[in-house]
Amino acid sequence: MGIYVEEDNFHMQTKNCSYIFRILEDKGLQQIYFGKKICRKNKYDNLSWYEKRGLELYTEKEKSYLRLGTIRQEYSSYGRGDFRHPAYQVKLKNGSRITELKYKSYEVNRGKKKIQGLPSVFAEEDSDVETLKIILTDELINLDVILNYTVFPKFDTIVRNVEFYNRGNEDLILLKAMSLQLDLPDANYDFIHFSGAWLRERNIYRTTLRPGIQGIDSIKYSSSHQQNPFFMLARLETTEFKGEVLGFNFIYSGNFQNIIEVDHFHTARITIGINTVESEFLLSRKDSFITPEAIISYTDKGFNTLSQQLSEFYKNHLMCSKFSKTSRPILLNSWEGMYYDFDDNKLLSLASKAKELGIELLVVDDGWFGKRKDDRTSLGDWNPSLDRFPKGIGEFAKKVHKLGIKFGLWFEPEMISLESNLYERYPEWLVKCPERLPAISRNQYVLDFTRKEVVDYIFNSMSKVIDEAELDYIKWDMNRYISDSYSANLSASQQMEFSHRYILGVYRLYEKLTVKYPDILFESCASGGGRFDLGMMHYAPQAWTSDNTDPIERLKIQYGTSYGYSISMMGTHVSDVPNQQTGRVTSLEFRSSVAYFGVFGYELDITKLSNEETTEIKEQIRFYQKYREIFQHGIFYRLRSPFMGSSVSWQVVSKDQSISIVAYYQMLNEQNPGFVRLYCMGLDENKMYSIDGFNEIFSGSELMYAGLNIFQKKYQDRTVAGTQDFLVDLFIINEMF
Ligand code: GLA
Repeated sequence: MGIYVEEDNFHMQTKNCSYIFRILEDKGLQQIYFGKKICRKNKYDNLSWYEKRGLELYTEKEKSYLRLGTIRQEYSSYGRGDFRHPAYQVKLKNGSRITELKYKSYEVNRGKKKIQGLPSVFAEEDSDVETLKIILTDELINLDVILNYTVFPKFDTIVRNVEFYNRGNEDLILLKAMSLQLDLPDANYDFIHFSGAWLRERNIYRTTLRPGIQGIDSIKYSSSHQQNPFFMLARLETTEFKGEVLGFNFIYSGNFQNIIEVDHFHTARITIGINTVESEFLLSRKDSFITPEAIISYTDKGFNTLSQQLSEFYKNHLMCSKFSKTSRPILLNSWEGMYYDFDDNKLLSLASKAKELGIELLVVDDGWFGKRKDDRTSLGDWNPSLDRFPKGIGEFAKKVHKLGIKFGLWFEPEMISLESNLYERYPEWLVKCPERLPAISRNQYVLDFTRKEVVDYIFNSMSKVIDEAELDYIKWDMNRYISDSYSANLSASQQMEFSHRYILGVYRLYEKLTVKYPDILFESCASGGGRFDLGMMHYAPQAWTSDNTDPIERLKIQYGTSYGYSISMMGTHVSDVPNQQTGRVTSLEFRSSVAYFGVFGYELDITKLSNEETTEIKEQIRFYQKYREIFQHGIFYRLRSPFMGSSVSWQVVSKDQSISIVAYYQMLNEQNPGFVRLYCMGLDENKMYSIDGFNEIFSGSELMYAGLNIFQKKYQDRTVAGTQDFLVDLFIINEMF
């Protein structure tokens, strides 16, 4: 396992997969294979064929078999005969856009260093992780292009990115710079992606690849609610537990473009990178540009295995926070319970009730700063409101801490309100184009994070509050897409760099805060799940999954999200009924049973709970605390999809297979329904297990292969109208000792 340099090929091998490319006789790079592990060999003549095809172009008459349009390439250029979309494009001073990259040299190193200024993967030098650098060059213009590959053998994952280095004396313009290209020899795959909208994030879509371009992208300046950068290519017969699947993701939170092009020879080209809309980079003399990293992960054991290996990979090699592997607190967030209607006294009663219930962290959401009484003012003024906290936020925080509860605050660091001291002082920091009125969203505007002084200013004002209130947690929100992009700070020729520079500014602030405050738990948020991506996860180990807290809707959102992300990345809260987004009424039991499968919390006014509800919530908290380790760091299985029927099921299993929790949810109370057997996963077939509430002992093999009979759950609670459809069974499975 690792990186092998053979006679004419580079072979990257993980536990179960191989990635091979070779140097062609004209020094171009040919992609040979990516898939299930195969043996190493000096040459793969059979796989590195050239075939002549009509109408395909070549440059040397004597070598007319070298036709770029018929060769699967490792990092393709445009304009020399390959008419598929290229991986990169560079413009010269004379306006020409033709370049040719030829192999120059390679290097193999142990471990993987983090990229300065960008979220990225990392690995120790003494680990089994290796990095391959392939240096390509265009001698005519002195352009070096370095392809980086890091191989993570245990996780069947390879991470790639590209560096452009202008060694010449002329400025170049980078028109396109994809992080990853992969040319597959056939296109017999389903394309599976996770699309949606605000309040309806990451629903699953599966379509068979067809000739032409298909893909997902964002030009909203965030990875977006609409298209998540994670996608999969799976063989048509692949299911949750069987079959080949390739997972792709991009470690970036801004505009992206993940494309699959099926060409006229039925090959599939995948490119992943920064969107070419709104991006162009000036590559001055002796200057370099580095792309964000992209991930490919392989398994032939179905979607569940892919999700599980990615989840472990992220924990070990992507997420920086010390909390990525430790347990996260059960929180109470003030938003849905109080919105802007609170002061220190109200919050203190909330905190005492939280204490009584066993809640571990109080989060004061939007509204604690400046003159903020609704969403029209004060973004940018990160000083606590004296109306709400007359004795100061420090005093308030002390009282919360004294109760033995952690304390956190909401920030929206990238935004500015017109009605704010910040705008009065620095109107030029608001993002807008000269002479034009900028578009508004949620009464707010965007701060110019391409400017260093803006990031520094926000860092200082946040630091002041963090220190004063000794914060344990920060929710970093971002509630609008970015328009009117322009910075008075950039030259005309650099305006197309705005989108990337903006995100680099966001990462700079994250970097500064997480380095200075390693003990603070960060949760990212963008109107719910609008920036649920690996760029954010590098710094913030959890994200607010969606503003939609209705558990029925959440079943879909969390199920979809779990394909590319671990459940410990998902903030999941129990909120009030009728649900404030859908008006649906569900039982407290149902709401909590959905929220357990994530980073659990509450988001309702707990001071208004009845005695029965108080007792029930105390019990829920005890339950989650008991099994928190398994929910947050166990192995997650999807068993029945909400996209396929009216019942849903999923399961977590402890790593030692001794405990498992299976949930079976009913979204519709069908009358006289068909019989259901639920097949558990991940248990030890030879171990004996008990299930709470059953007078029977089960072997792992019985639970997995014969299944668990699901008895029709009868609607009993006739006191709460509207809850009759939403019933849940939680099976707590324990190994017998
Ligand atoms: C966004 C978030 C919510 C809440 C509000 C506050 O919508 O997603 O959770 O923090 O902002 O304004």
